[in-house]
Amino acid sequence: MLFIILVMLTGTHCKSQAINSSMQYYNFIDVPNWKNLQKQIIDFKNKFTPPPPETIWWCHFEEEVRKEIPELLESFESMGLKMKQMIIFTNLYNDIAVTDNKDPMSIFVHTDREDNPNSTYDEVPVLTDFVPTIALNIPLEHCEESTTLFYSLTDESQDDVYYPTYNCGGHSHSNAVEVERFNLVQPAVLRVDVPHGVYNPCKEPRTVATFRFESDLQDLL
Ligand SMILES: [Fe+2]
Repeated sequence: MLFIILVMLTGTHCKSQAINSSMQYYNFIDVPNWKNLQKQIIDFKNKFTPPPPETIWWCHFEEEVRKEIPELLESFESMGLKMKQMIIFTNLYNDIAVTDNKDPMSIFVHTDREDNPNSTYDEVPVLTDFVPTIALNIPLEHCEESTTLFYSLTDESQDDVYYPTYNCGGHSHSNAVEVERFNLVQPAVLRVDVPHGVYNPCKEPRTVATFRFESDLQDLL
C-alpha cells in the first residue's frame, strides 16, 4: 500500500484556483549550500526513504530531518523558514504523448491537497492537515532532464480520475491544457495548488525533496 500524503481521493474537485496569464508558477531561489545539501538528502533518502516503485512518495518530519541533516534546517532557518515536512517524491519514467490516466506511462496530472480523513480508499494516513499552496523543491536525481508542467482545466467542475500507478485521484488529460513548464535545475518555489505534473523521459526515477514550511512562501514566488 502506498503511503499517501498529498492528494485526497474523494472524487470531488479541488477548490477552483483562478489561472491567468500573469500567474507566477515557479521561481528559482537561492538556498545556501544547496549542492552540499543535495548530496546529504540523497544519502538520507537512500537510507531512510522506502524506495519506488512500491513507494512513490514519503513524508519525513522535522525531528528526523534535524537529527540526520542539521545543516539543511540551518540553511532554511537562515532564510527565515521553519520546516514542517520534507517529502521525497518520485516520478517514474513516462511519456508526454500518453494521455490515458490508467496507463503507467502517463504523466500524473494533479493538484496537491489536504489529506482527507474520510477518504473512500483504505489506509490513507492524514499527514498533510493543511492546504498546500506553494512548495520549495530541491532537485535530487534526474531533474535536469525532466520537466515540470503546469496546466489549466478546461472544465473546473469535472470530477477527478484515478491514477492507479500513484494510487491517487488526479485530473483527466483531456481536461488539462499546458500553461507553463520548467526544468528543476536548481532549488525553486512552485505552485502546487494548481494542476501540475512531471514529464520524466529518463528510464531512471526522477526524485526531488519537496518541503512544506510553517510560513507561506508567497514572498519567494
Ligand atoms: Fe504535486
